[in-house]
Amino acid sequence: MGKVVILGVFVADTAYRADRMPRMGETILGNSFALGPGGKGSNQAVACARIGADTHMISKLGRDDFGKLALDTWAAAGVTPHVDQVADSYTGAAYIFIEESSGDNAIIIAPGAAALIGAADIEAQAELIGSADVFVTQLEQPMPAALRALQIAREAGVRTILNPAPAADLPDGMLALCDYVTPNETECEALTGIAVETEEEAARATSALRDLGVRTPIITMGEQGAYLDGHGLVPAVKAGEVVETTGAGDAFNGGFAAALAEGKSDLEAVRLGCATAGISVTRPGTAPAMPTRKEVDALLAQS
Ligand code: RIB
Ligand code: NA
Repeated sequence: MGKVVILGVFVADTAYRADRMPRMGETILGNSFALGPGGKGSNQAVACARIGADTHMISKLGRDDFGKLALDTWAAAGVTPHVDQVADSYTGAAYIFIEESSGDNAIIIAPGAAALIGAADIEAQAELIGSADVFVTQLEQPMPAALRALQIAREAGVRTILNPAPAADLPDGMLALCDYVTPNETECEALTGIAVETEEEAARATSALRDLGVRTPIITMGEQGAYLDGHGLVPAVKAGEVVETTGAGDAFNGGFAAALAEGKSDLEAVRLGCATAGISVTRPGTAPAMPTRKEVDALLAQS
């Protein structure tokens, strides 16, 4: 069993389905509402633990109902929390609008207490980070925390994954601390200026990411699959009818990290990540949609 340490954010996902977005100043009737655990780092941790890694989560929460939802979610998935519960802040929440006809979404995330994670909080977790086989982070918590954590992991010889989501400008030198960077098409364009739709464009973008210091860039390409530098397009794994794609990138990163931590090759780990994502999109919600290892192995065996 590999050990994975994840720095990231938990938020409560509040998902509204409607035929269309309201215009500013307008009120419309929606079709449904659901509340569930979300946040990129937390979703990745849940996926990673279900796939079978010894998974540890560094974050901050408020002392409120959504904070309890986070702790319950991690306990149920087998994720070990290393979190402060801050008295004078709140646990984050995300507004998720889903357009019923297309399944496309638009999201506002308010990280709450997780916006208070600073470099000093990361220093306090240096030993934990250094003990991992794989370290993972994203860009929902403040940049100085992500940067310091990647430095600590790199100095300790821990393999590092940066999921650069949501898209943001990165400090100089950050990409050179990454063994793997896993943007989707739009995040990749934000980093490289190269719009990615085809395999050839993905090849150009991964070589641009390598020039920026990334050891092995991987571009997730939705229903096409994932482009692995040095290999090419690894096709998506279909598991059924698509219900909700929110969190598919998190499923990929969690599955990929768990597989790497147990010693799988890059290609095997990308395949496992694609299968994890493939199952997650057939289920509603983000963290609750993450499959078990048994489900992923069964899907890979038949595809
Ligand atoms: O990647 C999906 C996640 O992004 C959702 O769970 C939502 O919380 C946003 O942070
Ligand atoms: Na889903």
